[in-house]
Amino acid sequence: MRLILLGPPGAGKGTQAKKLVEKYGIPQISTGDILREAVKNGTPLGKEAKAYMDKGELVTDAIVVGIIRDRLQEKDCEKGYILDGFPRTVPQADELKKALSEMGQSIDSVLSIVVANDELIKRLTGRRTCKECGAGYHIMFKAPKTEGVCDKCQGPLFQRDDDKEETIKNRLAVYNDQTEPLIEYYKKDGALVDIEGTGGIDEIFGRICAVIEK
Ligand code: AP5
Repeated sequence: MRLILLGPPGAGKGTQAKKLVEKYGIPQISTGDILREAVKNGTPLGKEAKAYMDKGELVTDAIVVGIIRDRLQEKDCEKGYILDGFPRTVPQADELKKALSEMGQSIDSVLSIVVANDELIKRLTGRRTCKECGAGYHIMFKAPKTEGVCDKCQGPLFQRDDDKEETIKNRLAVYNDQTEPLIEYYKKDGALVDIEGTGGIDEIFGRICAVIEK
């Protein structure tokens, strides 16, 4: 099972990807998570990516395509994977097609999670993430039992640097400009399915599973 989760910042791609990992046992490949890890570790890739990420701009296609090409070769991708946050531009989608065709693979479904902008801003400004295990929370919609502490591993929760309102607005503009064209791109391929992304997290997960299992 090879899936792409498409959708604006805050649509719930990461939240739903983690549930898919649990249910289907295939890895989540998030270019955002890979880049944030590189920033945290201060690697040359991280140093280059940080400037773009802090402004809410996209990192160059060459960097993320290189990351994905390497990642797809890893053993845990043999049974499938969930691409979360990649591709994000038409050139990235073209490069993905090329890489998959070289590997004799193709994408089964592109799930486009649809959420209105005002809801996205509420979700992103209230998002918190565990520093230790990466679990995701929201101060109102998915609050931890103890404020600032992860339910799963007791690690401290933090707010992402790019979840400030001004940066969020730029990320949404960048999405409309550079990523939204992928909806038409994958519609033409016949792989795109819209998922209504408003409602409870489990309710949305049910909609996604219904599409996958059809
Ligand atoms: P990335 O990390 O991919 O961020 P994003 O696409 O902006 O997506 P988010 O992680 O913000 O949102 P999400 O859809 O995963 O939402 P989540 O599930 O967390 O990218 C960050 C940066 O890295 C980019 O700006 C760019 O610079 C760079 N980058 C990454 N990939 C790149 C690429 N391919 N090319 C170039 N640059 C790249 O949910 C959000 C919140 O809402 C959470 O708090 C959650 O608990 C809550 N929530 C989720 N579902 C619901 C619900 N149903 N109801 C209420 N609350 C909910």
